[in-house]
Amino acid sequence: MKVAVVGATGLVGGVMLKVLEERGFPVRELLPVASARSVGSTVHFRGKDVPVIGMEEAVAARPDIALFSAGGGTSLEWAPRFAEAGCTVIDNSSAWRMDPNVPLVVPEINADALAGHQRIVANPNCSTIQLVMALAPLHRAYGVQRVVVSTYQAVSGTGMKAVQQLEDERQGVQGDKAYPHPIDRNVIPACDAFSEDGYTKEELKLANETRKILDPVIRVTATAVRVPVTGGHSEAVNVEFDKEYDLAEVRSLLAEAPGVELVDDPAGNSYPMPILAHDRDAVLVGRLRRDLTQERTLNLWIVADNLRKGAATNAVQIAEVLVERGLVG
Ligand code: A2P
Repeated sequence: MKVAVVGATGLVGGVMLKVLEERGFPVRELLPVASARSVGSTVHFRGKDVPVIGMEEAVAARPDIALFSAGGGTSLEWAPRFAEAGCTVIDNSSAWRMDPNVPLVVPEINADALAGHQRIVANPNCSTIQLVMALAPLHRAYGVQRVVVSTYQAVSGTGMKAVQQLEDERQGVQGDKAYPHPIDRNVIPACDAFSEDGYTKEELKLANETRKILDPVIRVTATAVRVPVTGGHSEAVNVEFDKEYDLAEVRSLLAEAPGVELVDDPAGNSYPMPILAHDRDAVLVGRLRRDLTQERTLNLWIVADNLRKGAATNAVQIAEVLVERGLVG
């Protein structure tokens, strides 16, 4: 495969290169792509320095697959141009996710949605991926009715500039700001822009994407919060089911779910945390407990590495399914 990584000099792009290499994805030729200011620099792939190219050059090279992580504007403009050139785009931005003609895929859950794709496939939002990974096996068993989720999101989800802001603040250095407030020693209850109804776009993405991936009948309400953690998103989740559940069965359903790892031994101080998820693909689930105020309702805590399963790994897994099922080309 000739594989383009658009946004190869960014945080997610860098992890995409690493994951492609680690998983032995069949890359015959790698095309690292970024903005004009990075053309001429190099990225490291399989022990070699590979030169970064611009968008026009990348389209002209007609890649088989392009993994995009260069922001929504870039995706809106360029994904159709890559698709017209015969390339299948796996887009990590929010630009195409809710388009009815674009599959929104977490391979462990709805890989079949890839059949009949029209050369643009969307990778869900990082917070959505870890949420649906834990909800999917429970939805099959008990029917999820309503979800209340609060997120504790790492700065790496915003990009390199935000990681730098946190580092600068910790070291007392003045620098560029990704957020309108300090993030060190603070939490910011605003991820992405606000919409007119008072919710942020991140909160709406969690609701709409969960419904598209799992089931449109599910009601989701969210509060998304940025915390001074470099990597790894956490979520406190309250789930109301159609049917009564058995807590022991919930444990085994989650323990057996592919890509999910149960970390739930409170007496031994064992529960999911960003430092446990770091550099791993597993979605960690713990703090399982009955909601004592309401029947058929469960509380849980979910943590994952937002740059890996929340972005790069999920995108590469989609590419793997496309190749395995002969859906590229
Ligand atoms: P560049 O490094 O040249 O700015 P992050 O979110 O971690 O900051 O990364 C964003 C990625 O998207 C970078 O690789 C960045 O390239 C790339 N990018 C941003 N704007 C564009 C654009 N207009 N065209 C192509 N790539 C872009």
